[in-house]
Amino acid sequence: MWAVMGLDVPHSENFLYSSRFMISCFIGGIVLGASVLGLYYGVPLTPFGIRKKRKKRPVRVYMDGCFDMMHYGHCNALRQARALGDQLVVGVVSDAEIIANKGPPVTPLHERMIMVNAVKWVDEVIPDAPYAITEDFMYKLFNEYKIDYIIHGDDPCLLPDGTDAYALAKKAGRYKQIKRTEGVSSTDIVGRMLLCVRERSSGDSHSHSSLQRQFSHGHNNKLEEGGSGSGTRVSHFLPTSRRIVQFSNGKGPGPDARIIYIAGAFDLFHAGHVQILKLARELGDFLLVGIHTDQTVSANRGAHRPIMNLHERSLSVLACRYVDEVIIGAPWVVSKDMITTFNISLVVHGTVAENDFRQGKLNPYAVPMEMGIYQQLESPLGITTTTIIKRIVANHEAYQKRNEKKADSEKKYYEGKTFVAGD
Ligand SMILES: *[C@@H]1O[C@H](CO)[C@@H](O)[C@H](O)[C@H]1NC(C)=O
Repeated sequence: MWAVMGLDVPHSENFLYSSRFMISCFIGGIVLGASVLGLYYGVPLTPFGIRKKRKKRPVRVYMDGCFDMMHYGHCNALRQARALGDQLVVGVVSDAEIIANKGPPVTPLHERMIMVNAVKWVDEVIPDAPYAITEDFMYKLFNEYKIDYIIHGDDPCLLPDGTDAYALAKKAGRYKQIKRTEGVSSTDIVGRMLLCVRERSSGDSHSHSSLQRQFSHGHNNKLEEGGSGSGTRVSHFLPTSRRIVQFSNGKGPGPDARIIYIAGAFDLFHAGHVQILKLARELGDFLLVGIHTDQTVSANRGAHRPIMNLHERSLSVLACRYVDEVIIGAPWVVSKDMITTFNISLVVHGTVAENDFRQGKLNPYAVPMEMGIYQQLESPLGITTTTIIKRIVANHEAYQKRNEKKADSEKKYYEGKTFVAGD
């Protein structure tokens, strides 16, 4: 690799380039000198010389995954990956490959594609990516998709034969690592849902509700088994103000912007949410999303909801490209004051929603309706949070088995984990 230095570029110019590039990398948040060099020398050279190439060709990075029941942890990984290049290409693993490797996915490919495409840091999506990167697929990525680097988290990813799934990419010097997002995994979320179902079917809903509340914030029912020790699953998610800043657009509406408002729980953020947000955004210039508090959601949908807490739900919504701003803890009722404060032009609500407000005593949209600024939107997909939970329940046993296995390896990860730099 070092031989590249001798290529028709004088050393001084070469140095100039690396330092200039280093500056842009520092802005991008990379502080490892070694990775800067790797990034610089890893970019393929052309007969036209480095300079032209550097200016014209963006650094393309690739990340893959199943993105089953996509959550803010996936989104954060995509954000981190995007920061390592100029364009992010995401491979979404096919249903058949997921079934073969870890059992049926909760969300089918077309829904997973909607989810990944909606993440604001994603530039391109490849459907039907293989579960593990084969040599063939790796060269396809390099040659056909013009990928410079393959990105993966700091958790080990082993093939069934025990070898490192990214060994090839590492050997080619085209691998980069990101820090795994703390605090959430699909395994954990499925666990929360399964517990929720178990608690509900056991009858006595009142005495269980406090446990359900706890669990929806990261505890599971193994509490009694290991006390405060081994059997307890505690949420590792610690929301920081910086994470919220990283996820937000940091921009208010422009002058004369038409502001659209939509409110909801957005629990287990899914393709149905994405589609309605897209429709809502198309009606104006700025989409403001109100996310109800955990208390509000519980009061309206039962003590076992929400599955994801307010901060988790806010991050998932913020990662969506159709969303401009969120209200973290929006009131149930859309008041006149709120409409004035945010200069809301139109309030919308989907036809497919868990809560049919028309059946309740209190119409939360009474004010915008009276003002003539309320519009109901035809929901493009018939999915609700309940749909997702039902899918899990339908495959209860299979998920539970798969979950126990995965929970074990995740426990090992947390036990053996050390500090990894990055954000
Ligand atoms: C409020 O929104 C309307 C669009 O509905 C816009 O024309 C107006 O300029 C906005 N007001 C301010 C002060 O931005």
